[in-house]
Amino acid sequence: MPQTVSETLPDTMAAMLLTGHGGLDKLVYREDVPAPRPAPGEVLVQVTATAKNNTDRKAREGLYPTRDKGEVTSFAMGGSATLTFPRIQGADVAGRIVAVGEGVAESRLGERGLLDFNLYPDARRDLNLIPDYYGHGADGGFAEYIAVPSDQFHRVPNPELADAELAALGMCSYQTAYHMMTAAGVKAGERILVTGASGGVGTALIQLCRIVGAIPYALSQADKADALLALGAEAVLDRNNMGDFTARVLALTGGDPIDAVMDLVGGEMTDRFIDTMIVDMGKRRSYPRLSIAGASGGNVSEIMWTRIYLYQVQIFGVSHGTREEAEQLVDWIRSGQLKPVLHAAFRLSDLHEAEAYFVNRGSDYLGKIVIVPDSQWDEHGAAFALAPRA
Ligand SMILES: NC(=O)c1ccc[n+]([C@@H]2O[C@H](COP(=O)([O-])OP(=O)(O)OC[C@H]3O[C@@H](n4cnc5c(N)ncnc54)[C@H](OP(=O)(O)O)[C@@H]3O)[C@@H](O)[C@H]2O)c1
Repeated sequence: MPQTVSETLPDTMAAMLLTGHGGLDKLVYREDVPAPRPAPGEVLVQVTATAKNNTDRKAREGLYPTRDKGEVTSFAMGGSATLTFPRIQGADVAGRIVAVGEGVAESRLGERGLLDFNLYPDARRDLNLIPDYYGHGADGGFAEYIAVPSDQFHRVPNPELADAELAALGMCSYQTAYHMMTAAGVKAGERILVTGASGGVGTALIQLCRIVGAIPYALSQADKADALLALGAEAVLDRNNMGDFTARVLALTGGDPIDAVMDLVGGEMTDRFIDTMIVDMGKRRSYPRLSIAGASGGNVSEIMWTRIYLYQVQIFGVSHGTREEAEQLVDWIRSGQLKPVLHAAFRLSDLHEAEAYFVNRGSDYLGKIVIVPDSQWDEHGAAFALAPRA
């Protein structure tokens, strides 16, 4: 296959293979996985850091049923399942181009950049009807190399951003957050409730609200409040104290309702979030809007439809986003308007440990975990390793 390389490429690489739905034992570290080569129109990226997302765990555990609640499966929006095994997970890849496929300019060799993680179904720039992604429907970045479309590997030269920090700005969180806002038509001056605020998507939402001039109110936990206020939250509500929730929100907004909710929690809490928007319709300037892109608090909610249609609540289900939105986000990264929220880096061979840490994380946890190939650890990972616990 015609290609141009900047160095001799190895035939094999280290990678973490997901071998089936199940526990951490389904993740198998191998050093003899065939290294990919770029097809026409693709670039081969040497991975320096890949951010972890909740979806890695959910896909591994088969927690994406869309019909039968008890089903262990992943989604199949295009009609058939795309998660097959073995699969290399890891969506948010930072790295350097080391080879280009036919039709890609050689000048791109050596470029540092960030992957737009989508497996787009077509060339549409404004619509993404079958959201699938590298690390799910095709191999991702928990490996030393990945081959991806050249137009989805976006150059981000910014020397102030380490590769691990660039991965922490990955699209799985940021594009989802941005599409939650565009779907609901979030506007400057609007009061936005952001739930799951300390996570990857939540920290992205807080920053993006500020960029467009909206006012984010964060639902999180008390000991994360200072960090969230520093990130841009107007105020932080404690999710461990949901009593009088609407009254507490109104006390913070000066009596005005929340204009739109960006929900990542779901479950029993979503109904409470809706209350903050419909408490007094006479004070509203627009329809109440709920964007939901995650359900960390439960996959099933009991919501009265009368509340939805009588109060004209608009609900937007959100998964990923569009090419246009990814490109806008990369512009904001390049201009320094988006800041990475990086919690820690782990070696690729320690991915099991990273997964366990992610699930059992402490209350001081904010933002992203990044996985760095062992061969890149000293240069790109060590500075962000967890401090040893006293
Ligand atoms: N639709 C999509 O395209 C898409 C893309 C990315 C993510 N997601 C989903 O969106 C959600 C958030 O993703 P993420 O990457 O930001 O995850 P994350 O980094 O794990 O953050 C989730 C946050 O939710 C809060 N939370 C966790 N369990 C909770 C519970 N039982 N009740 C209330 N709050 C809880 C926690 O924040 P506090 O401690 O601050 O409350 C946690 O930090 C996940 O469900 C994920 O699967 C969907």
